[in-house]
Amino acid sequence: MKNIVVLISGRGSNMISIAQACLSQCWPARIAAVISNRPQAAGLAAARALGLPVEVEDSAGRTDREAYDADLARRIDAHSPDLVLLAGYMRILTPAFVDRFAGRLLNIHPSLLPSFPGLDTHRRALEAGVKVHGATVHLVTAELDSGPILAQAAVPVMPGDDEDALSARVLEAEHAIYPMAVRWMIDERVEVRGRTVRLRDPGPGETGLLLPRSERA
Ligand code: GRF
Repeated sequence: MKNIVVLISGRGSNMISIAQACLSQCWPARIAAVISNRPQAAGLAAARALGLPVEVEDSAGRTDREAYDADLARRIDAHSPDLVLLAGYMRILTPAFVDRFAGRLLNIHPSLLPSFPGLDTHRRALEAGVKVHGATVHLVTAELDSGPILAQAAVPVMPGDDEDALSARVLEAEHAIYPMAVRWMIDERVEVRGRTVRLRDPGPGETGLLLPRSERA
């Protein structure tokens, strides 16, 4: 059994989608801990309801980022993690933290990277007038939202979309690609060469690209 640690800051819907896939698809893995930096994160209650072990490493007032990340890393290490998943974890990580978990640290970002790294991706996509938007699962490297890309999901931007409508469409796609990419990592099918990710023995449709329903073969 591989150990997965999930870091959250908020509602935790990606954490839930991964936990559900892990259970329903009988992954050879378990979620060893869901750790939040915010004690009030709604995702903590959701994780408890799923029977997952939860922990809090409160970041309020922790201005020394190195010291905070070292405490967080110790907490994570206690679970001997094979994978550490950022799922709406809203703190920028220190290089030492990223180094420590290099190659087993994943993030989901709500845009088609390298477009719109950082915050407010849906608002910025609407302002830019793009016709396609989406989400990206990537390995985390020291540079923000720039690591090798495992999977992307594209969604259309529809006339009349506001941030809520667009983010809901993207979130549904996130819930499809994040568990898929995590499963590839669990099964050790991911090969990284520089910035490029290759999937070992890809099956039909395992391209790492998820298109809107109407566009799928
Ligand atoms: C998602 O949009 C994710 O891409 C971004 O933060 C949001 C977290 O949502 N990093 P949730 O907490 O998983 O519901």
